[in-house]
Amino acid sequence: MKINTASFVISNTDWKKSPAENRLEYAFIGRSNVGKSSLINMLTNHKNLAKTSGRPGKTQLINHFLINDHWFLVDLPGYGYAKVSKSLRRGFGEIITSYIENRKNLINLFVLIDSRHEPQKLDMDFMKYLGETGIPFSIVFTKTDKLTKHKLSNNMIHYKSELAKIWDILPKIFITSAESKMGKEEVLEYIGSTNEELQEHFLHKLS
Ligand code: GTP
Ligand code: MG
Repeated sequence: MKINTASFVISNTDWKKSPAENRLEYAFIGRSNVGKSSLINMLTNHKNLAKTSGRPGKTQLINHFLINDHWFLVDLPGYGYAKVSKSLRRGFGEIITSYIENRKNLINLFVLIDSRHEPQKLDMDFMKYLGETGIPFSIVFTKTDKLTKHKLSNNMIHYKSELAKIWDILPKIFITSAESKMGKEEVLEYIGSTNEELQEHFLHKLS
């Protein structure tokens, strides 16, 4: 799938103020600084569509972007950012959990994981929570340009073996870099084919 147009629509703290739920939607989530906003810019061929920063906690709102006048990409705040106030930290954050649990047109949540790190409890807990809540998700490993091929391959094998301790069937996995654009086609193909598969059914359900 090709992205021809991508435009910012709205930012919210409250999912209820998000755009109407009449388009298919894909959201990006993960720890602060994992590269969510950078990945959105890479996928959409923009430098600054989603705001990025070297300091964690940059994205604090639910940000909707309209793609090809057809579907939404959503940039979410990171979880696990120590400096946010206590009230924001309840669970994975009220903004995030209420959005995830209520948004009817959310088709898939991309859970971003830094490919350089050992599996972290917080990410595993988050995916467990998604499983228990029945939210479809896939995993996107980020920042692969920072690793050698060999180290990346070892880390992926190790991560999958940790996932297999919890999940009988592993979620779909993408291996990406916002820097080298690795994985771009795979993520876009997945969204494109899911859109084709679901569009008719989805519109039918809404009418
Ligand atoms: P929050 O909004 O704070 O939750 O962070 P985020 O997950 O949106 O991360 P963001 O995209 O702002 O990126 C954080 C930092 O990582 C920035 O300095 C990016 O330039 C850098 N970064 C993101 N993706 C990549 C990547 O694929 N490769 C490299 N080398 N750096 C990356
Ligand atoms: Mg961000």
